[in-house]
Amino acid sequence: MTKKRVLSGIQPTGNLHIGNYLGSIRNWVEHQHNYENYFCVVDLHAITAPHDPQTLAENSYTIAALYLACGISLEDSCIFFQSHIPAHSELTWLLNCVTPLNWLQDMIQFKEKAIKQGENVNVGLLDYPVLMAADILLYQADKVPVGEDQKQHLELTRDIAGRFNHQYAKQSPVFKLPEALIQADGARVMSLTDGTRKMSKSDPSDLSRINLLDSADLIQKKIKKCKTDLERGLTFEAIDRPECRNLLTLYMLMSGKSKQTVVNECQDLGWGQFKPLLAEATIEHLRPIQVKYHEVMSDKTYLESVLRSGRDRAALIADRTLAEVKAALGFSILNG
Ligand code: TYM
Repeated sequence: MTKKRVLSGIQPTGNLHIGNYLGSIRNWVEHQHNYENYFCVVDLHAITAPHDPQTLAENSYTIAALYLACGISLEDSCIFFQSHIPAHSELTWLLNCVTPLNWLQDMIQFKEKAIKQGENVNVGLLDYPVLMAADILLYQADKVPVGEDQKQHLELTRDIAGRFNHQYAKQSPVFKLPEALIQADGARVMSLTDGTRKMSKSDPSDLSRINLLDSADLIQKKIKKCKTDLERGLTFEAIDRPECRNLLTLYMLMSGKSKQTVVNECQDLGWGQFKPLLAEATIEHLRPIQVKYHEVMSDKTYLESVLRSGRDRAALIADRTLAEVKAALGFSILNG
């Protein structure tokens, strides 16, 4: 039986944090054996906000190396840079012409980022979700493992695919409608400095997040300083204690313990007793990832060979879908 297909990606902007890891990469790794996987570094998305050309390539290599360091296996998965496959940009243009403008204007992330970027909002920022739809639809992905903040973009992707199929490919649909794969725990990791806000790469305060490559000392410092409340005894249940729920969830996922074990262990603890446990579990969880990351980064030739073969494998599928899309739209095809 052929395996179902998975596609996902991460932008090479800022430091990867444990929100990105728990919301996406961890799930890619956990389920990779059950699927045929395509994991891209979405570098074209990274230029929708002001960026530094000096660091774009280096940041992209860092993300690819982290994919490997976190446990992506090349037997099940293919790793590549989005910009290495021209079909992503080309399909974006074609999909732009079937996507109503108001669908994009309604996207929550666009509105939030547009406010943040002020005067600096380019057309690319508005078009970001169409490029994301192209990423997914090119590979005819069945599942797209992402954090909760990407749910709306996945719904848009399905809407675009459905509209294209309906308008141009009624007899034999070109696109498969993908499903978001969002985990029950860790799909929305909150900031360390405010439990009501999402942990984010773009938060100006580095104390708000734990980055995958933070040193043990820094992790200890960030957890020591993180926001808590005045109550003793820690619980997942209290709706009015967002920091408590977030930190307990982090502890559960970083330690690998079950929810019940964490409940039993922490129900009578004070914050002063809990924080060192969380720091220790986080440091221990990230240690092997950091060791492997440095190993991969020290061998650029190997990393480039991974990306080259990833590009070649991914391009085969992407080009096939693109050809079907162009045929459905009625473009002329030259023989030879
Ligand atoms: P990016 O780089 O912003 O985020 C990468 C992944 O991390 C998840 N994530 C979180 N999960 C839990 N808690 C958080 N605080 C948190 N912050 C981020 C995101 O949901 C995402 O899964 N638009 C995508 C990139 C993309 C993509 C794609 C994803 C481009 N094309 C095609 C899937 C398929 C994004 O948000 O990247």
